[in-house]
Amino acid sequence: METTFAIVKPDAVSRGLIGAIIKMIEENGLKVKSVKMIHLTKQEAEGFYAVHRERPFFDSVTNFMSSGPCVVMVLTGEDAITRYRKLMGATNPENAEAGTIRKFYGSNVEANAVHGSDSPGTAATEIPYFFSQMELVN
Ligand code: RTP
Ligand code: MG
Repeated sequence: METTFAIVKPDAVSRGLIGAIIKMIEENGLKVKSVKMIHLTKQEAEGFYAVHRERPFFDSVTNFMSSGPCVVMVLTGEDAITRYRKLMGATNPENAEAGTIRKFYGSNVEANAVHGSDSPGTAATEIPYFFSQMELVN
């Protein structure tokens, strides 16, 4: 069993896609271990995407991520990290495979509906950034 971290991003929340996206996640065999809705500040979004600080899209993506509420989740399952990344599809929805979340619901390379940890190390950093120990005890 593996654990990963997922976000339904502000574009998807505002379009009423929380349920549809969680349904795809659950139908793919992943289980929601923890879930809550939050509204990131610009500073919190900058902390979350700190790895992209030098990228040209950093200011824009952190504005986007703090533009409205998002749903953060911890997911568990066999090969959860790779399995969820595959279910998400490519960063740019135009390049995402058919049947993926981003192909269905992504609008563009920035407003691409979902986030998922890209490695066990990333998941181990991202989960405690959003969830306290008490929220992870099921
Ligand atoms: P994520 O971290 O959100 O799961 O997405 P990812 O691994 O597929 O893509 P990453 O390279 O980590 O980029 C993080 C997020 O920044 C926005 N982005 N904008 N304008 C652009 O060229 C651009 N490139 C990336 C997207 O919201 C992307 O998911
Ligand atoms: Mg990434």
